[in-house]
Amino acid sequence: MNDDHQVVVARVLLPAGLDPLRERFEVREGGLDATREKLFEIAPGASALVADPSVSVDAELLDACGERLELVANFAVGYDNVDLAACRERGVIVTNTPDVLTEATAELALALTLAAARRMSDAERDLRAARWGGWDPAAYRGIELWGSTVGVIGMGRIGHRYARLAHGIGAEIVYSGPSPKPEAERELGARHLMVEELLAASDVVSVHAPASDQTRRMIGARQLELIGPQGVLVNTSRGPLVDSDALADALESGALGAAGLDVYESEPEVPARLLAAPRCVLLPHIGSATVTSRDGMARAVADNVIAVLEGREPPSRVA
Ligand code: DGY
Repeated sequence: MNDDHQVVVARVLLPAGLDPLRERFEVREGGLDATREKLFEIAPGASALVADPSVSVDAELLDACGERLELVANFAVGYDNVDLAACRERGVIVTNTPDVLTEATAELALALTLAAARRMSDAERDLRAARWGGWDPAAYRGIELWGSTVGVIGMGRIGHRYARLAHGIGAEIVYSGPSPKPEAERELGARHLMVEELLAASDVVSVHAPASDQTRRMIGARQLELIGPQGVLVNTSRGPLVDSDALADALESGALGAAGLDVYESEPEVPARLLAAPRCVLLPHIGSATVTSRDGMARAVADNVIAVLEGREPPSRVA
């Protein structure tokens, strides 16, 4: 046990990451329902702060941790909840958990794609509410992925894996992003398009871009109209990329075929209009929720913390 370092876990960390930290350092946890006040109570004196997507790590929280703080270890691949500039100003390292959640998140995006494309939520809701009157040739007609065009916005690790899965089912792949990805083009015959071209060309659009000022509300009324009345939108990245009012409008009016969402703008709040919208599959941010992935993420957090507090370069540094 190294008494020089205290690790503050803002909410919780799974045993796969918590145990190795506890063997080495004093660890304080805020708990799943930790309030901001609670965080400020446990933060002072931390050498490492473990955060997750629901914890806003801003200048105020960094200052509450104090001058001993060396690292913010985010328990997620996305790190839009962390003010990177404020960390840099204070010389605080930031790490994330890439790779270990790629398969889980891509598979969940594919599951949402199929569920939305085949109207599974509406069909199951009707069945459970005893509204199913028997086999009906016109009911719940969706689209097939085989022979469709799937547009991937953001061909990073997760986007690429998702594209492989969709290609395996027989979809043609188009993608957009800051730069062409020759590997995806060679492997999948994927075509690089501008976002608007992609929206117009795709039957399914799946968003895999990080949240930033540039991507905020990149999918609004005009973009949904381009995806169209037979088209499907899937978002497993971050809620702020999609304008939820515009999405509810498009689902209500029929301007968009269907949507599958795993993320929301102000989680855990889910807009009431989306809860009521037709042809909409909603999940509670479970993209990385497999045993393998979440344990891998917890271990990655511990590896990053241990490396930095032992004076080594962490395996996954983002700032
Ligand atoms: C991430 O890692 O960014 C995910 O959203 C967490 O599930």
